[in-house]
Amino acid sequence: MLAEFLLTLATPAGRMTRQLGLLRESTALWARGLRQRESWAPHHQRCQALVTQIVGELERHRIVVVLGSGLVRDVPLDLLCARFQRVVLIDAVHLPQVRLRMALRRNVELVTRDLTGVMSWLAGEGQGRSDPLADLSADTEVDLVISANLMSQLAWPIEDWLEGNGDRAAAFPKDLPAHCIAWHLQDLERFAGRICLISDVEMLEHDRDGTVTDRLDLARGVPLPPPDERWDWQVAPFGEAERDREYVHRVCAWRNFQKDMIKRQRGW
Ligand SMILES: C[S@@+](CC[C@H](N)C(=O)[O-])C[C@H]1O[C@@H](n2cnc3c(N)ncnc32)[C@H](O)[C@@H]1O
Repeated sequence: MLAEFLLTLATPAGRMTRQLGLLRESTALWARGLRQRESWAPHHQRCQALVTQIVGELERHRIVVVLGSGLVRDVPLDLLCARFQRVVLIDAVHLPQVRLRMALRRNVELVTRDLTGVMSWLAGEGQGRSDPLADLSADTEVDLVISANLMSQLAWPIEDWLEGNGDRAAAFPKDLPAHCIAWHLQDLERFAGRICLISDVEMLEHDRDGTVTDRLDLARGVPLPPPDERWDWQVAPFGEAERDREYVHRVCAWRNFQKDMIKRQRGW
């Protein structure tokens, strides 16, 4: 707890990033990932193996963009650095340990950015959404984009903020959290390079008898094409969040997201 608190103090983050709970969540994710190193390992290995395969399939390796890079646990960083000319890691929060690790890498750039595009709007500093990936999606040298366990995380901070700011919530679309997910998918579709999307799409709560006691649609009803791969991620085994409840997230992966979206639009 003390380490998390000190990290919160040591990490540069804007007012809305803090207000939306993203800084707190990043430090919590760091600590939970250390505690749950073993139960999270299969998930990280699946993600890394998938990205490794895709990198091997690409003809060109100029720029790779990782969205929701966080602690850079779910992408094969050494491989990306070795194969690509530029590795761009984008997140709303880059913790000091990530900044330090990346400072040693010649071709890695850390970009701090809100990938919902709505933070300034919520803060009353803009009208409507701003396009968070306008510059990068126009860059024809981006050969690979990895949305790395980010998509589901775009909704809950907005939900919490709208709930906590009831007096201002009426000024925004009621389904803004789901819109943030749908906009992210549209942002991805605009890239000319290969898109790999990995995200948890459902949360299951189990009791000790294995009965499902609760479930939550992490995609907030936004339709998605059939995934290429799916697996379970034991996010919080018994005792992590609650003594008699475990939380398992269903993860889906799309190896070539634009192609999957085109197929879906054409009803193939
Ligand atoms: C589950 S973590 C991703 C894990 C990460 N890929 C890793 O390997 O550690 C989700 C990430 O999304 C980031 N995130 C959440 N909302 C964001 C937003 N609005 N803009 C940018 N990043 C955001 C969080 O800061 C967090 O690092």
